[in-house]
Amino acid sequence: MEAVIDRETAERLLVAAREAATRAYVPYSEFPVGAALLVEGGSVVTGCNVENASYGLTVCAERTAVFTAVAAGHRTVLAVAVTAPRVATVTPCGACRQVLYEFKPRDRDLVVVLEGVAGPEFVALGDLLPRAFGPADLE
Ligand code: THU
Repeated sequence: MEAVIDRETAERLLVAAREAATRAYVPYSEFPVGAALLVEGGSVVTGCNVENASYGLTVCAERTAVFTAVAAGHRTVLAVAVTAPRVATVTPCGACRQVLYEFKPRDRDLVVVLEGVAGPEFVALGDLLPRAFGPADLE
């Protein structure tokens, strides 16, 4: 897929995601994750995973970032960078793919930026979540 964000922006998002991962609350899994969104208008919004003693209430880094962005008034996510310091490359879980899909630009795909072996790796959300159910289906 052709990336709608340039490499420099992708690297900036990964830096922000790595910093967010340092704030992860992960006493149970000890698996920190950080996410950084590029939202329409150019702001960057970050999130980390937040775990809970009631394990199932854990919220992933990507969803923390999306909900933080929405609460701040943003409605369109152009790109998301995801990083997990303990593994080479992490991709968003299924639940996070669906939540990201809700806020993708209407006219194009949302760019997912991963930690590739030689710098940012770009994947289209549409490739991670084909034939998704979304807002348009309810119109
Ligand atoms: N996790 C994320 O934050 N994002 C992902 O894409 C994968 C999983 C978190 C959830 C949990 O806190 C830990 O990673 C281990 O599953």
